[in-house]
Amino acid sequence: MQGFSSVHQTGWPLKWSKRRHTEDKMLPLLGKDGDHSLEESQPPMESFSQALGTTLAKLCWGLAAAPFVLISSAKWFLLMKLYALTSQVINGEMQFYARAKHFYRDVPATEEGMMGDYIELSNTDVESSREFLRKFVGGVGKAGTNRALDCGSGIGRISKHVLLPVFKSVELVDMMENFLAEVPNYLQGKEDRVEMYYCKSLQEFTPAPQRYDVIWIQWVSGYLTDKDLLEFLIRCQNGLKANGVIILKDNVAREGCTLDCLDSSVIRDLNILHSLIEMSGLTILREERQEGFPEQCVPVWMLAMQKGPGHS
Ligand SMILES: C[S@@+](CC[C@H](N)C(=O)[O-])C[C@H]1O[C@@H](n2cnc3c(N)ncnc32)[C@H](O)[C@@H]1O
Repeated sequence: MQGFSSVHQTGWPLKWSKRRHTEDKMLPLLGKDGDHSLEESQPPMESFSQALGTTLAKLCWGLAAAPFVLISSAKWFLLMKLYALTSQVINGEMQFYARAKHFYRDVPATEEGMMGDYIELSNTDVESSREFLRKFVGGVGKAGTNRALDCGSGIGRISKHVLLPVFKSVELVDMMENFLAEVPNYLQGKEDRVEMYYCKSLQEFTPAPQRYDVIWIQWVSGYLTDKDLLEFLIRCQNGLKANGVIILKDNVAREGCTLDCLDSSVIRDLNILHSLIEMSGLTILREERQEGFPEQCVPVWMLAMQKGPGHS
């Protein structure tokens, strides 16, 4: 398992574009030939029949557990493609999650730890996020400014620089206890505006109904499988107040879905994200590419979403 030094080499969470080095790792959607697309160091990929079996099992899950997921044939086709996607690249959901947890044990509970090799980009990131957020909060028909949820918060970098300047209070959820333990110290006097800390994995976390004006999900969606990200988005939707907004900010692949074995995460392209968002019932209000990051970095996008028309 990788130590922090290898994290540095990778340049996580802002990853150098791996297009040149790992073009062969870009996985096409199910149905195209992806067998040769993983590096030797990666676990072997499921065979097509295994993948199909997994897909069918997940379809059964979809039927049993998510009746709200649209089941028109076109949607089923999309679901099949998406579920096959992460199950093809990660080769076992439990290991995928266990590896990410193992990885984060070696990451320091500091801003540098949250930004990997790119601490100097934190200000640019934060400035753009603030500007993006301003478009959706405060004012008639916009989200309120009472309470925000910071998902995959780490030590609270987003809460401190983006959310607390706008919202009366924040709540933070992260799977790592040591990161959450650092939050009061890191927030430097604003810690009394943290209402709740949830030490939970997002795939197991359910936001309380109608509690949040904004739910911010930054640099963490890639740690969830397609199925878990889809379900999480659906649960987040229930956690929104009237006019509430979900903002997802993350690395976005130029094409397909890539696996990073170092931190056990995937990077999805915009099409895949759009499909998941559409299936969750959310509507995209706006999406913007982060500007001001080095050209060699994997593109970072911000997507603002709100409840779809059918969702009360
Ligand atoms: C790259 S850091 C980003 C932290 C913060 N969002 C920021 O932008 O500063 C990723 C964070 O996601 C958390 N994380 C990773 N997988 C998670 C999961 N499945 N559930 C909850 N938190 C997770 C890690 O513990 C870490 O704090």
